[in-house]
Amino acid sequence: MTFIAARKALLAALAGTALIGIGAAKAEGTLVLYCSVQEEWCRPMANEFEKATGIKVAMTRKSSGETYAQIKAEASNPRGDVWWGGTGDPHLQAAEEGLTETYESPKKAELHDWAVKQWAQSKGRTVGIYAGALGFGFNTKQIGSRGVPEPKCWSDLINPKLKDEVQVADPNSSGTSYTMLATLVQLMGEDKAFEYLKALHKNINQYTKSGAAPAKATSLGETTVGITFMHDMVTMVVNGGPVKVVAPCEGTGYEIGSMSIIKGARNMENAKKFYDWALTPEAQKLAEAAKSYQVPSNKNVVPPPQSPKLADIKLIDYDFAKYGSSAERKRLLSKWDNEVKKLPK
Ligand code: F6P
Repeated sequence: MTFIAARKALLAALAGTALIGIGAAKAEGTLVLYCSVQEEWCRPMANEFEKATGIKVAMTRKSSGETYAQIKAEASNPRGDVWWGGTGDPHLQAAEEGLTETYESPKKAELHDWAVKQWAQSKGRTVGIYAGALGFGFNTKQIGSRGVPEPKCWSDLINPKLKDEVQVADPNSSGTSYTMLATLVQLMGEDKAFEYLKALHKNINQYTKSGAAPAKATSLGETTVGITFMHDMVTMVVNGGPVKVVAPCEGTGYEIGSMSIIKGARNMENAKKFYDWALTPEAQKLAEAAKSYQVPSNKNVVPPPQSPKLADIKLIDYDFAKYGSSAERKRLLSKWDNEVKKLPK
């Protein structure tokens, strides 16, 4: 071999090693996180995990229904590794449709029963990370000028005097709003629930994409009433907004916010590392600092004092198996599209 040929061979070998090196570093060093809580909480989760492990996180925030749809659309070429947060129903639907992976974390023993039940129900494909009750809030400055008493019940929200004064998300994109749909069906029976939703439609000023958006709009006075999880309204109160939070008198549903590993995740080992970390008390305590007042699933985390006390709220026995099933979620959403959303106002 000539000197030049030898040099070329050496350079090629080195380049090969370098490429393998880069490839390996890349595979070890990244995590693609789909996050379905508030941006204010998604960011510290990504940053603190990066700090704790050195793994670079690429995070995208989208609502629960939107993330489910994205994971389904990407199923033949998965781009995400972990879906963290968002209501449990679409996580259960993804589990049933085989879009997510089974995983048993060593941290499972530290979780509340409701979080483990979510895991068992999904045959190990999703796990509970927090819980929160559905409710609504109203703007205390505006309610008086509408000529209505302070609303306390679901039935108060269909008062014609609240025309264009109620805001809620679209249940297709938002897990919050799907929780409302499924809650009302369980609370009233399906026929009465759809009658109610049609009456409510007349009072809706906007179906937002994200479930928590109506909380901000209520605080700003852009709407008099917003239907959201109670903890999202509590955030507005903590921020000094003129908002009162209500647990509806008839009773209400709740969510088990969940986490799943995406089937075919490119960074599977890092996905498992994130999953285990996200169940630790250290990670779950980040919620409070981000003014997120859900009840954490790790038993060793004391819920923030501002968190609505689930034991004091009249909660329905929400049937997660039924309303998180693929067939039921699809059926209810298309019925809502056809019978409620299409209606003129
Ligand atoms: O982060 C706030 C929150 O209400 C969570 O508790 C819930 O899981 C999620 O947002 C639902 O968001 P969306 O309704 O936009 O899917």
